[in-house]
Amino acid sequence: MAMKPGGKEQGGWASARTKEIGRHRIAVTVNGRRYEREVEPRLLLVDFVRDHLRLVGTNEGCDTTHCGACTVLLDGHAVKSCTMFAVQADGSEITTIEGLAAHGRLHPLQEAFRENHGLQCGFCTPGVVLAASELLRVNPKPTEEEIRVAISGNLCRCTGYVNIVKSVSAASRAGGG
Ligand code: FES
Ligand code: FES
Repeated sequence: MAMKPGGKEQGGWASARTKEIGRHRIAVTVNGRRYEREVEPRLLLVDFVRDHLRLVGTNEGCDTTHCGACTVLLDGHAVKSCTMFAVQADGSEITTIEGLAAHGRLHPLQEAFRENHGLQCGFCTPGVVLAASELLRVNPKPTEEEIRVAISGNLCRCTGYVNIVKSVSAASRAGGG
């Protein structure tokens, strides 16, 4: 880089300033564990979860808010994590698919998807399961139509949705939210 008069001092100041304003310290609780990290303001939440925390069960399909593969629970609500920045999640509680199973047992939704063949390739499944878990939390006995509406932001290229709906219904009957 060409040095202008006084550039060394200015460049030094500028790069220090870039560093200072270029990163933000955030604290989030993910699957019950607290993390503090310095991140760039433009870092997407999905990339924070996958690349910084190495929780790769959250998939990244489109990066444009269409597919829902990146769905996580943010303070209990299903959100597409490619649609927000990590800094926007500062102070929040996040649940990823890795946080659903407890004490070595599958979550009732995971069990229901397994039992009812609710997945094929599985790429959409973490997002679908998390979207369904919010549904069953607020509406433990949803109709088929309510299930279809709840997962309408989650695209599946394999199943035709029939067994996904069946799985969520089965989890509902089993009392799993
Ligand atoms: S990767 Fe986020 S909606 Fe597709
Ligand atoms: S199971 Fe393959 S995309 Fe849904």
